Amino acid sequence: MNDFALARAAHVLSIVWWIGGVAFVTLTLLPACRALAAPAARIELFENLEHRFGGQARWATALAGLSGLWLTHRLGGWERFVHPAQWWWMHAMVAIWLIFSLMLFVLEPLLLHRWFRQRAASAPVATFALIERMHRVLLAASLVTVAAAVVGSHGGWWM
Ligand code: HEM
Repeated sequence: MNDFALARAAHVLSIVWWIGGVAFVTLTLLPACRALAAPAARIELFENLEHRFGGQARWATALAGLSGLWLTHRLGGWERFVHPAQWWWMHAMVAIWLIFSLMLFVLEPLLLHRWFRQRAASAPVATFALIERMHRVLLAASLVTVAAAVVGSHGGWWM
């Protein structure tokens, strides 16, 4: 097995771990917290249960980024970023990666965690609904990107 194939395997495994986790949180954990806890206790229950996945998501995101950069380097693929009409799915991967990295490494620890708790004190139902909506939007964009990247990497129907 060569380094390119290994990097591709690491890339796909990290994406499975990370986006699979996002799917579980969005479609199972959040609805369960909504059903099981009173509005004022939902966010705390959710954060306690999701806490462990946060660390895993950070590692998986880092590995996805590093392996993605290595794949781009080995493919000589930097010029793909100059042609967005043809290689839009490369831009989509980087965009999703940037959004999640910003959320996981910067916004969530420094800002969002506190902001959600403050907002939840006065508007618990609306705040939890906002958290669910954000997760759904990010999951949908991630799944579209995964599908587009697989099709694009293997020839693409649009090429
Ligand atoms: C810094 C961020 C990223 C970079 C630089 C990057 C780069 C790459 C490259 C160069 C490839 C191989 C393309 C080819 O064979 O022509 C690839 C494949 C792929 N990437 Fe990314 N990627 C990144 C993030 C992501 C993210 C966030 C996702 C998912 C949401 C993702 C999902 C995939 C998938 C599913 C494949 C196809 C694997 C296969 O079918 O062999 N990547 N990526």
